[in-house]
Amino acid sequence: MLRLLLSMLAVFAGQSLQAGPGQHAVASAHPLATAAAQEVLAAGGNAFDAAVAVTAALGVVEPQGSGLGGGGFFLVHRADDGRSVMVDARETAPAAAHPDLYLDADGEVIPGLSLDGPLAAAIPGMPAALGHLAANYGRLSLAKNLEPAIRLAEEGFPVDATFLQMAGFRLHALRDGADAARVFLREGDLPEEGEAIVQPELAATLRRLADRGPAGFYEGEIAQRLVEGVRAAGGIWALEDLANYELVEREPVVLHYCGARVVSASPPSSGGIAIGQMLHILAAGGNRYGDDEVDRVHLLVEAMRRAYRDRALYLGDPDHVDIPVERLLSMEYASGLRADIDPERATPSTELPLDPDAVPGPVPPAIDSESEQTTHFSVMDAEGNRVAATITLNYPFGSAFMPPGTGVLLNNEMDDFATRPGEPNVYGLIGFEANAIRPHRRPLSSMSPTFVETPDRIAVLGTPGGSRIITMVLHGILAIVEGAGASEVVQARRFHHQYLPDRIEYETAALGSRVQLELARRGHALSPQIRPFGNMQVVIWDRQRDRLEAASDPRGNGSAAVFTPVPAR
Ligand code: DON
Repeated sequence: MLRLLLSMLAVFAGQSLQAGPGQHAVASAHPLATAAAQEVLAAGGNAFDAAVAVTAALGVVEPQGSGLGGGGFFLVHRADDGRSVMVDARETAPAAAHPDLYLDADGEVIPGLSLDGPLAAAIPGMPAALGHLAANYGRLSLAKNLEPAIRLAEEGFPVDATFLQMAGFRLHALRDGADAARVFLREGDLPEEGEAIVQPELAATLRRLADRGPAGFYEGEIAQRLVEGVRAAGGIWALEDLANYELVEREPVVLHYCGARVVSASPPSSGGIAIGQMLHILAAGGNRYGDDEVDRVHLLVEAMRRAYRDRALYLGDPDHVDIPVERLLSMEYASGLRADIDPERATPSTELPLDPDAVPGPVPPAIDSESEQTTHFSVMDAEGNRVAATITLNYPFGSAFMPPGTGVLLNNEMDDFATRPGEPNVYGLIGFEANAIRPHRRPLSSMSPTFVETPDRIAVLGTPGGSRIITMVLHGILAIVEGAGASEVVQARRFHHQYLPDRIEYETAALGSRVQLELARRGHALSPQIRPFGNMQVVIWDRQRDRLEAASDPRGNGSAAVFTPVPAR
């Protein structure tokens, strides 16, 4: 009744006055995780409770993408006071980490060391995030929100095609660790599709988290087992690393573009700043970039190239390095970058100066596009609370190492550091001093959970995809600003440039043959990709039309749902 009255008032006033959409919406990369959110929302939880439930459930049913042994960024917005915050649960380097950790005596990078096994693992932030969200933002208890995940871990979930593909890709690493192999493989080989993966040890760890909060993970028996397991297998974790893990609430990056307010991830994510630079480069030309498709792609690519150059040079953990945020996000700086773009010719990346101290590395390898993992979910509740969260173990199944008796698969986020100045990581990204390995530092990330707020609509979005996350989210923002609906946004074809390697990577249907020919004529190297990009999850509330929609990327197996709250009895 009150809602009806408010919308009548809104019509009368010629504007929307609703505080919230009156319905809940969730989009996640797995139907069982979406169902977990529905379960806690139906039990009276809010969007933050749903975020806890989805995160925990994804860690069980999509173990290749995220989990308790990883980390991530939760962009949260509280409807009652309008506050938006980034909950930074990024992993941190252990105290014993140092810049030469992955180098041999000759200073060469030892292949695989920052990817497979416990030395690749940073200290997880995920258990801290679950506790923090439930305690500070949720309405239900942590234990209640963890119930669906505990059930899924105890009863098992059916293996799907994505799990098999990713487990196949990481088979050697998974076979190397007895515990991971026991849980995810069958006598060293892949399980059958549809077979149940049961995780009793993970269920027990989740129960401990439910009973004792984050201390149940970072201290006591679980912490002991984690550290013993890591050290016995050649890792460098210490009990203090776990006990000292600190979650940080940070101000998100806030941008203004074409009448929209864009709220995105701040450092240690590179997402918000890079997105800001690219939007500002577009805006510096009065937003005149859309008339001809070739001109549009050319300009976007040149903006991407420049933003990723700056990512490599300047971005890192804001608690350890000085990032010139103001300058990077100033319109003046963007105007300079825009003026430097030749509208008719690609700028070779080698002509864009790197810092004189920066040692350029070897030519980065091709991005291994099989590594399309990590995960994202978007949720909005009936009151307008919302969460965009991108969470990860980094590579599929992270380091593939599971300390005995914990059920917790550890991340390999250490590879997101520059293992050596100019050395490309697994996504081909390079970095220098700002992202060098140091004790307690957070590795630079590309994860970019984002809100787009226009006068009419509010969108919650994000995607996995390694280095391509940032440009995929940029495409999403531009589509939303231009009025696209949630399904259109997740379906849109994607292209990407990241400074090095100096080439446009694109989904084959993203660029027509005329566009390809003309881009090549302008000097761009083209690299069509057979495998699709990303797995975007979008929720959009159209306040003007009083409509809430959710969409899950057709490239993945996720699910989206919009549903009416059950009235409290
Ligand atoms: O934080 C980052 O940027 C990476 N660890 C994300 C990895 C990722 O998205 C892998 N997915 N496809």
